[in-house]
Amino acid sequence: MSEALANLLNETRQFPPPAALAANANVKADAYAEAEADRLGFWERQARRLTWTKEWDQVLDWSNPPFAKWFVGGQLNVAYNCLDRHVEAGLGDRVAIHWEGEPGDTRTITYAELHRLTCQAANALTDLGVVAGDRVAIYLPMVPEAAVAMLACARIGATHSVVFGGFSAESLTNRIQDASAKVVITADGGFRRGKPSALKPTVDEALANCPSIEHVLVVRRTGEEVAWSEKDRWWHETVETASTVHTAQPFDAEHPLFILYTSGTTARPKGILHTTGGYLTQTAYTTHAVFDLKPETDVYWCTADIGWVTGHSYIVYGPLANGATQVMYEGTPDTPHKGRFWEIVDRYGVTILYTAPTLIRTMMKWGEDIPAQHDLSSLRLLGSVGEPINPEAWIWYRQHVGRGELPIVDTWWQTETGAMMISPLPGVTEAKPGSAMTPLPGISADVVDDQGQSVPNGGGGYLVLREPWPSMLRTIWGDDNRFIETYWSRFEGMYFAGDGAKRDDDGHIWLLGRVDDVMLVSGHNISTTEVESALVSHPSVAEAAVVGATDPTTGQAIVAFAIPRGTVDASGEAGEQLIADLRNHVARTLGPIAKPRQIMLVPELPKTRSGKIMRRLLRDVAEHRSLGDVTTLQDSSVMELISSGMGGGK
Ligand code: WT7
Repeated sequence: MSEALANLLNETRQFPPPAALAANANVKADAYAEAEADRLGFWERQARRLTWTKEWDQVLDWSNPPFAKWFVGGQLNVAYNCLDRHVEAGLGDRVAIHWEGEPGDTRTITYAELHRLTCQAANALTDLGVVAGDRVAIYLPMVPEAAVAMLACARIGATHSVVFGGFSAESLTNRIQDASAKVVITADGGFRRGKPSALKPTVDEALANCPSIEHVLVVRRTGEEVAWSEKDRWWHETVETASTVHTAQPFDAEHPLFILYTSGTTARPKGILHTTGGYLTQTAYTTHAVFDLKPETDVYWCTADIGWVTGHSYIVYGPLANGATQVMYEGTPDTPHKGRFWEIVDRYGVTILYTAPTLIRTMMKWGEDIPAQHDLSSLRLLGSVGEPINPEAWIWYRQHVGRGELPIVDTWWQTETGAMMISPLPGVTEAKPGSAMTPLPGISADVVDDQGQSVPNGGGGYLVLREPWPSMLRTIWGDDNRFIETYWSRFEGMYFAGDGAKRDDDGHIWLLGRVDDVMLVSGHNISTTEVESALVSHPSVAEAAVVGATDPTTGQAIVAFAIPRGTVDASGEAGEQLIADLRNHVARTLGPIAKPRQIMLVPELPKTRSGKIMRRLLRDVAEHRSLGDVTTLQDSSVMELISSGMGGGK
């Protein structure tokens, strides 16, 4: 890691914006000075991009930090802003979504149609007894109904909680229970890697422990047989038969819009709460500014899943609030062939592509001749999100996807920040490969040392946010104390992002990954504790420790060390079998994304005298490095035992 880091920080290349883009850019360099001079006035002007039924009395109420209120007293409806107002402006025939299923089936959905569908879903949810303030869980594949379901909740003031379709029944149960959701919206399944992948059975299993759920709405996608209970209703019989007339009611700017769970350092996921006016203001503004989106001519494509915050902010709310035309794709990038993404770019004339470093690295591995076989000339801007993008991947992306000339916006943000925070502006910034560069206008990010002092140029430390921002999380659902503890206690009066960062000699910001024990696997946050708990829940495991090891493809990969119980035969073939069982056990418990790349069966774990597992040393082992300082170890012979047993277990 330290070697990779040194390379990263030696990167000196810089790429100015293409002249034509710079000349026509939505946002020019003066935005920084404008926001600097009057931050709240700046955000107030951005809020005017939206249609409010009642104007706010106060831009920001920060009288009770860290509990912020933005646009206090203002009222608006999010779905109205994403749909009705475009239709009322005569844009009903504009395509909102070019949807493509993995098997190749397609749907073209205009703003008028998306509006109609959302009205029907709003009426159907109301008929099922859902009222403003209720929580609705959404567990869907990447089908248009996912966006419709979210917008319908927003329309009636119900708070949605989208759970990624790759999560297990247990994860779904936890999330439904935590928010006491009343309804689940799901599907029979979706298509992944060329075959149907069922979802409904997982919901059925989860609901055994979810008494709060009154109804289940089921979208028919795969047509596969599903079990049926009296709580279940088909979407096509409920939503698609409902009235298409629905008048959106305004809600308070601080009305809860959604909860999205993110893994923390403890096993219990955190329900990140986002509200209405500030969230929509910042997602709408950043879509306009960072993607330089021209809704009349651009075709935008964000390859994220709607189950992650990227899908919330940059598939649903930001683009639709701007009246964008976008592509939505159900499946994997290599089904039926490794050129699938580029085929989609060509077919729909995608102009703006937003994807993740893990995907770019995968594409690199597959070879540059694959994108070269497709016409990518429609592209004019590329984006990256989810983890630090290494300079090699950045350059490859620009060279082989961006014809060696397109700007790349490397956008740093989090589930908690709700919207982009640090990123180049494509018409302004001379981007450096691997750096997210500068805080966006109206955002005050800083890099501080252990004591909370700003580091000078050339220094490294922790990324913090010094001032509240409109789309900030408002709390952790049901746990204000945990909100304060997690984000606002590390440094006085600052938001602690949990990321290491460095400020280079020009003052540009480089993100260096998580400083706590959260692993970033293919852009997904997974906590070490969650995986450890899953391992220990297996009857053959006495104790487990998990680390994220640098991995060329997924960013980090999960490497686990497990101590078998005394009575368990863990030698030779039996050991191999146990390892295979454990990997599957974790995948079953937490979802396939959490399946460890490698599990090693070890006799002991390295612990400090106070009993804390020294993950640092395990990371050394996992990354095949010589061991760091072992003097704080309770028993220094432990590491020899572990290292010597390192051969097998792959
Ligand atoms: C963490 C947040 C933002 C949506 C997807 C992930 C890492 C995200 C970048 C970037 C370096 C990045 C950080 C952050 N991260 N974008 N451009 N450069 N690191 O959302 O699951 O809440 O994860 O992802 O470590 O804290 P998330």
